[in-house]
Amino acid sequence: MVTERPKPKKRQPAETATSEWRAGLPPPKPILKWAGGKTRLIPDVLARLPEHITTYYEPFLGGAAVFFALARSNRFEHAILTDKNPELVDVYRAVQQDVESVIEELSRMTHSEQAYYHIRAQKPRGLIKRAARTIYLNRTGYNGLYRVNRSGEFNVPFGRYKNPKYCDPPRLRAASLALQDAEIFVSDFEQATRDATKGDAVYFDPPYVPLSPTSNFTAYQREPFGLGEQERLAILFDELGRRHVHAVLSNSDTPITQQLYKPFHVDKVSMPRAINSRASGRGNVGELLVVYRRQKAR
Ligand SMILES: C[S@@+](CC[C@H](N)C(=O)[O-])C[C@H]1O[C@@H](n2cnc3c(N)ncnc32)[C@H](O)[C@@H]1O
Repeated sequence: MVTERPKPKKRQPAETATSEWRAGLPPPKPILKWAGGKTRLIPDVLARLPEHITTYYEPFLGGAAVFFALARSNRFEHAILTDKNPELVDVYRAVQQDVESVIEELSRMTHSEQAYYHIRAQKPRGLIKRAARTIYLNRTGYNGLYRVNRSGEFNVPFGRYKNPKYCDPPRLRAASLALQDAEIFVSDFEQATRDATKGDAVYFDPPYVPLSPTSNFTAYQREPFGLGEQERLAILFDELGRRHVHAVLSNSDTPITQQLYKPFHVDKVSMPRAINSRASGRGNVGELLVVYRRQKAR
């Protein structure tokens, strides 16, 4: 699904945003917990991106961990942030456009099992209310999971946290400031990057290829991201590189990904598993970090 790309806003000098949060706000950080959140991989990804980026693209936005890290060090002029999940995109748009109303809405919510299921059952119409509901459910639901049933209704159970911080005004305001230099919309990854050109950079963090046939790697979205999608992504990665766009990608370390990214420069890293409810599923996993730099043919 692709929504109309909004008209670009007048660009603000990136320095303005940096000095403001340095003055009064904490450095911007992710506002949602997201499956596959990249917090631990950030230094490795940042080291592979240019110091100065004209337009930064993050087409599998999720928790936006890499975007916020780049914003902290003021490394791009402008950002295009997209994801296929409209509820997620609503959160960033609302926080960008009217963070004070999002905070007000969240501050009216209370924390209890009953309140959780009441809010989960609602289908608010306005952008602010929809965004506040998603933030609340993400912060108070089981393990920060995003899961929907066949009709697209969010169906994660209550999380039983003692004191979840679903309303964190300084964090939300810092995120809002970082998002002022961004265009945010729902898009498939391929269309999202079609205008990327020399001087721009893209970080792809797709749903990973499953490590074993039993792992359900598409659990946090409605439409599966199968082998065909992985192949389409690898072709796009190559095309962007040929257009001199600086492309970086992460994925699981599997025979499929090794084959797909064989022509490029690939580093293997070991990361602790992020969201997994079964203790047996925890521990380290191998990941690949791919940079568009063709290996010399042997
Ligand atoms: C691994 S998560 C991204 C994690 C994120 N980088 C972070 O730091 O939290 C993958 C994201 O891709 C999105 N997605 C799945 N299929 C997509 C598609 N075809 N186009 C764009 N986004 C898609 C999902 O909604 C999900 O938010």
